[in-house]
Amino acid sequence: MKMLAGSVLDADFWNLERSVSEAVSAGVQRLHLDVADGSFVQGISFGDRIVRSIAEKSKVPCDVHLMVTHPESQVKLLSGIEGISTIYFHIESADNPKSVINAIKSAGMIAGIALSPGSSLQNIKGLLSSVDAVLVMLVEPGRGGQRMIPQMLERVKALDRIRKDKNHFEIAVDGGIKVENIRAVAGAGADVLVVGSGIFGQNDVGKAVKSLVSELNFS
Ligand code: DX5
Ligand code: ZN
Repeated sequence: MKMLAGSVLDADFWNLERSVSEAVSAGVQRLHLDVADGSFVQGISFGDRIVRSIAEKSKVPCDVHLMVTHPESQVKLLSGIEGISTIYFHIESADNPKSVINAIKSAGMIAGIALSPGSSLQNIKGLLSSVDAVLVMLVEPGRGGQRMIPQMLERVKALDRIRKDKNHFEIAVDGGIKVENIRAVAGAGADVLVVGSGIFGQNDVGKAVKSLVSELNFS
């Protein structure tokens, strides 16, 4: 079952509740919350307090995408927040990935590992038996509205093959997904399709979600 996740990074924060409700009523099944610290990536988005206020009220599960240099300390702050399903951290940011994974799992959440386009798949191969989810970045992390790097679909296909042979983990993809390419991205093997500006950057959020969902249903 393919799932559509809405990333609020490019949402109108003044009207966040309205936009999120529209997106969820129209078929968004998860919210994707990008925590960016201005160090791992250039921009700063929001931290645990805003995540808490969204996750505790959200009608759908929330996944947190940490784009920060010290994932462990953020995991601590996020522990205990109701409504968070998965926490993804970047392999490039962790000195000791196993301990971040353990910290996420001890907090009762799903541990996910994120991979930037420039990092090799090899870097996470040894961790695939310990995580339940992988987030493949289809753009450089940090901001919405970029174009998908098409070569990343090969990476999704490779991960899909690996999990068929051995471990099971969910594959999420993030960045540059629009109504024009969502079918191809889903077809490569992704389960969770994260869309930011393609939903929250649109004038009619509900209509954008419906078009994405109907494309997904064909994939
Ligand atoms: C970017 C974030 C994404 C972002 C995606 O680094 O991780 O979740 O919101 O936005 P779009 O869909 O516009 O590429
Ligand atoms: Zn993200």
